[in-house]
Amino acid sequence: MIVRDTLEGYGIVSRLFHWLMAVAIVAMFALGLWMVRLDYYSPYYNSAPELHRSFGMLLLFALLVRWLWRAANPKPQIDDLTPLEQKASYAVHWGFYILLLAIMVSGYLITTLDGRPVDVFGWFSVPSILQMRGLEDRAGDVHRILAYAVIGLTVIHTVAALKHHFVDKSTILKRMWSGPSPPSIIPKKEMHR
Ligand code: HEM
Ligand code: HEM
Repeated sequence: MIVRDTLEGYGIVSRLFHWLMAVAIVAMFALGLWMVRLDYYSPYYNSAPELHRSFGMLLLFALLVRWLWRAANPKPQIDDLTPLEQKASYAVHWGFYILLLAIMVSGYLITTLDGRPVDVFGWFSVPSILQMRGLEDRAGDVHRILAYAVIGLTVIHTVAALKHHFVDKSTILKRMWSGPSPPSIIPKKEMHR
């Protein structure tokens, strides 16, 4: 099993980060939309936002670790895309990183601008570092817009990945799913020739 990324594709760590975070982000979007519509008498009125905030903070840490991992690994080369597609894919990847950081920070601000910490599953709490009472609603508006932007980018990214896979017969989706093919093993006899 290939752990680190190579020039040919993504190792297991990047692939796990990619797919687990993709599922979690879409689930967070659905949870967010559902929880803000709950009425005061719902049994989930407090627990759903607690889950959303706790999971969101874990996702923020995961995003930072994912960045560090990416920086410490070679960037897989995409040679079966046109230069324009390569530029677009680069922009979408960076767009994701920036939007995801912004949505997590804005979520943190909704909760902490009044001075309260974010409690993460009762395991630990992240303190408030900026107190600006009255701006929580603004942070909430920004958070909602960013959530729709993340989902919009996900749709574009998914359509592009499926198009490269099914129409262009590119290996891009395969290598994000099952990794790069292992280096071919040269039989000993061949090596001595
Ligand atoms: C991938 C990350 C996240 C996604 C996709 C996401 C998505 C959403 C969505 C769609 C809503 C509903 C917005 C609306 O219709 O008004 C929401 C609300 C909310 N989110 Fe997030 N969120 C994320 C991360 C976070 C984080 C890290 C926190 C806090 C630590 C957080 C705290 C909140 C709070 C407090 C609300 C309720 C806002 C209100 O009552 O207006 N979210 N989120
Ligand atoms: C919220 C959902 C998603 C997010 C945030 C996301 C984010 C990313 C990011 C940031 C990259 C760049 C590689 C990296 O830095 O790890 C990437 C690559 C990739 N993603 Fe996603 N992704 C999502 C969903 C999907 C889905 C649903 C598919 C396919 C149906 C997909 C297919 C791919 C492929 C094939 C690559 C590799 C592209 C290449 O080699 O340049 N992603 N994704």
